[in-house]
Amino acid sequence: MSPATSSGKPGFQQLPLDTTLPRDWKTLASGPEMPLVCLTDFQAYAQEHLSKSTWDFIEGGADECFTHDDNMAAFKKIRLRPRYLRDVQEVDTRTAVQGEEITAPIGIAPTGFHCLVWPDGEMSTARAAQAAGICYITSTYASCPFEDIAATAPRGLKWFQLYMQPDRQLNKQLVQRAESLGFKALVITVDAPKIGNRRRDFRNQLNLKMNLLLKDLRSPKERYSMPYFQMSPIDSSFCWNDLSWLQSISRLPIILKGILTKEDAELAVKHNVHGIIVSNHGGRQLDDVPASIDALTEVVAAVKGKMEVYLDGGIRTGNDVLKALALGAKCVFLGRPVLWGLAYKGEHGVEEVLNLIKNEFHTSMTLTGCRSVAEINQDLVQFSRL
Ligand code: FNR
Repeated sequence: MSPATSSGKPGFQQLPLDTTLPRDWKTLASGPEMPLVCLTDFQAYAQEHLSKSTWDFIEGGADECFTHDDNMAAFKKIRLRPRYLRDVQEVDTRTAVQGEEITAPIGIAPTGFHCLVWPDGEMSTARAAQAAGICYITSTYASCPFEDIAATAPRGLKWFQLYMQPDRQLNKQLVQRAESLGFKALVITVDAPKIGNRRRDFRNQLNLKMNLLLKDLRSPKERYSMPYFQMSPIDSSFCWNDLSWLQSISRLPIILKGILTKEDAELAVKHNVHGIIVSNHGGRQLDDVPASIDALTEVVAAVKGKMEVYLDGGIRTGNDVLKALALGAKCVFLGRPVLWGLAYKGEHGVEEVLNLIKNEFHTSMTLTGCRSVAEINQDLVQFSRL
């Protein structure tokens, strides 16, 4: 299958055909002469091939994109302290999240509307995650039915991300459906009681086709299209005390995504949740909050080992993964890079992205003298005085 070209189907973006590509890109697209060797190569490919509004939707951050940019920049202020003369013939990247083994501490963050980028969207993503042996967090805004996602990758570890809907019954239905389909955890996104100011989407007057959304989430009025920024069926009244209701309707572990402070981390412990994803939504919600990696230490210290802490935002290299683990993350999740891989070659593009960063992480471990994930600790990093 080729990238979502002019299929004529609703919701698919028009992509430039090969003949319209500049020379360098023709070479990249057509052959092995110039392989994509790092995640930013996939980013450049996606930018070149996706329509402007789809590219802007994926890449964009909120307001001035300060936090969006800082997510990446903050990793570069951390330096590594390698240890040598250890036997690193065998380096094992395996670990576990919520008791489930994964091949590396790298997973897929929830992102919506994969069918904008590749025809069978989330189904390709799910198969790639299964093949890579990592965890895939499926978004509430998936553009394929959960049943199809579960059926196409039955052995893959999948968590379900929920944007709380104002209709309690609908939340119950979604959660119980995910549980019965074999999703292993509930990820509740807490940083989006309202959609952030995504200037690029405003300028493009982005109209996401509502028929890409799950039927359950569409109201007849919204069926065909509406401006993305008006699409906010998220329950902004949801608060800490409502977590017990979620706990009463499902046995799945609950993970809060978007926590950035020690105060909220302590409340998460008090409310018996099972995990936290330190995240600022890839800089797409509140601008001017800390980079995820800068918020990690405070959250890890506050939970005192009582639950697993994960991180997403700005992970682009194996060294970034190592740094996040050194500062206490149990696993990291990739958002945009997965969509770049999907835009490149669907399932196989996502697999390439995952394998590339897994290999980079293996190299990072080897070159710093870590033979197992358990050996990664804070002594491996120092903060640059630059
Ligand atoms: C997101 N993110 C997101 N988060 C969430 O909880 N539910 C969702 O449906 C989405 N959708 C979404 C779409 C797109 C296009 C992007 C880029 C992001 C946020 C996502 O889970 C994650 O927090 C960030 O993407 C991580 O940052 P990086 O890896 O993109 O830098």
